[in-house]
Amino acid sequence: MPESPSSVTEVRDGLGEVGYLADESAALVSFLAQRLGKPILVEGPAGVGKTELAKALSRSTGRDLIRLQCYEGLDEAKALYEWNYRKQLLRIQAETADEAEAGWAGARGDIFSEEFLLTRPLLEAISSPEPVVLLIDEIDKTDQEFEAMLLEVLSDFQISIPELGRIEAKTHPLVLLTSNNSRELTEALKRRCLYLWLDYPEIERELQIVRLHTPELDETLARRLVEIVQMVRQLDLKKPPSIAESIDWARTLLLIGAEDIDRKTFEDSMSIIVKHRSDIDLVSERVTVKLSAGSEEGVTGLPGAGA
Ligand SMILES: Nc1ncnc2c1ncn2[C@@H]1O[C@H](COP(=O)(O)OP(=O)(O)OP(=O)(O)O)[C@@H](O)[C@H]1O
Ligand SMILES: [Mg+2]
Repeated sequence: MPESPSSVTEVRDGLGEVGYLADESAALVSFLAQRLGKPILVEGPAGVGKTELAKALSRSTGRDLIRLQCYEGLDEAKALYEWNYRKQLLRIQAETADEAEAGWAGARGDIFSEEFLLTRPLLEAISSPEPVVLLIDEIDKTDQEFEAMLLEVLSDFQISIPELGRIEAKTHPLVLLTSNNSRELTEALKRRCLYLWLDYPEIERELQIVRLHTPELDETLARRLVEIVQMVRQLDLKKPPSIAESIDWARTLLLIGAEDIDRKTFEDSMSIIVKHRSDIDLVSERVTVKLSAGSEEGVTGLPGAGA
């Protein structure tokens, strides 16, 4: 049975051990969520480690991860539970004459039992005998009705099934909801959650993350990569490169055996970090990567960056 952590440092170290480098606020909120039993709402741009935080918490606490991937039109049948109609039908057809005599009441009690229930992520998380981590990913993709239903589950930790009764949580899941801000979430939901804003990391933490994912990459090269990514982020791009792109770029450099990021390497591999035509144009125009090697002077600036 996983135990509650006793300090923020313990949580940060635990996450570090499973490969997630949490900043101060991520560690604090993860600690509080476990101690207060509240869900975490994680918001922030794409690719900054929102989903990974949930996965890492699952690894570090030894809890199973149950994931509900949200999308437009997601309904209770896919999130909570559904009756297994086919199985119910088969059971009714297989009934012997004797049983049929017992009538509808008998059949009904029989086919609306747990045996015929298809549990979906929310019910699964609630009814799990061992506490789990429940990741409700990209909640902003669903509609408000779904959010209202979710609120009920998250505040009472129980689910009512009309034909079966109330299913109460045996254990409390550690719940993380993520959002990319495609729509404003309701106040009611926000009120029930601890809030965590994840942003692009500062340079040293990003360097650590990149090195963690590609330990074989030369440190000077990794630093240069991160410096360039951070510069590119300052431009007014449609989609600034995230941590995910930094990691991809690091892997690319390893694969192509780059020893330095010179102009040619940069131009050849730039599409790994910027993925819109207009962004690519802007970056080629504004980022001047000198031909010189490794040293910090090798990366030069953006005349009028961020303008
Ligand atoms: N703090 C961190 N420590 C280690 N790895 C990280 C960290 N933050 C992000 N990453 C890595 O960055 C990548 C992107 O993270 P993730 O998929 O969690 O982003 P996201 O915020 O959920 O993005 P999206 O909004 O697109 O779903 C993953 O490979 C993850 O391992
Ligand atoms: Mg995600």
